[in-house]
Amino acid sequence: MHKLIVANWKMYLTLRESVALAKKVLGVMDQVSGVDIILCPSFVALEEVGKVVKRTKIALGAQDVAPEQRGAFTGEVGLDDLGESGVQYVLVGHSERRRMFNETDAMVNKKLRAALQSRMKPILCVGEPLSVRKGGMEKVHRYVGAQVRRGLRGVSSGELKRVAIAYEPVWAIGSDRADTPENASETHGWIRRTVEKIYGGRASGQTEIRPRVLYGGSVNAKNAQEFLRAPNVGGLLIGRASINASEFSRIVKQA
Ligand code: PGA
Repeated sequence: MHKLIVANWKMYLTLRESVALAKKVLGVMDQVSGVDIILCPSFVALEEVGKVVKRTKIALGAQDVAPEQRGAFTGEVGLDDLGESGVQYVLVGHSERRRMFNETDAMVNKKLRAALQSRMKPILCVGEPLSVRKGGMEKVHRYVGAQVRRGLRGVSSGELKRVAIAYEPVWAIGSDRADTPENASETHGWIRRTVEKIYGGRASGQTEIRPRVLYGGSVNAKNAQEFLRAPNVGGLLIGRASINASEFSRIVKQA
């Protein structure tokens, strides 16, 4: 299966900067094959970045979504709106949303299910804070496993095929300290087994239940390859290193 590389531009760029970066990323795409790329600009930049990547190999993703289609939700951006802008993927439960905007597992689950209902492909973000990591890998697995279970509540095995999971240790995000590929790989394996347990090992029909699990947290052009080669790592979710066109293209070429 192709590796999935997701660029999370967060609130780093203006609309114009986002369009310029999307054009640069597109410029290197003819040197790349066998990798799926998703750009996640700010809400305001979605439509214009969408025009740049339309009918290319690059897909468009949103960094968040309201759990409702439309209605009286001041300040929110709904799924219908995203759909019209050409969005196919949505991040749900990014740790910055959980930590700074008090998103609970229940809210994350609501967003994920709403996205699935709108035929989108959600990327469920999970990861433990430093206090949990300090308690050892068993505690990490328990914490992350619970986030996965709560995040996927009510999701059918058919819908699961459209879900990816991003494992991002909170302490590794925006720091200069990535996890080790070995630990990330071990946790990805745990996430896979958790999903298999929930869905009984196999989806309806004969397809195996194997959502892509991405690693995120201080990925850069130097360490990307180690993660991409690690067992169970289906791709990367990249923040800072994705807003530099040359660094991002160096990562993508390694996938
Ligand atoms: P980072 O962010 O690559 O800047 O650590 C990753 C993320 O938040 O998705």
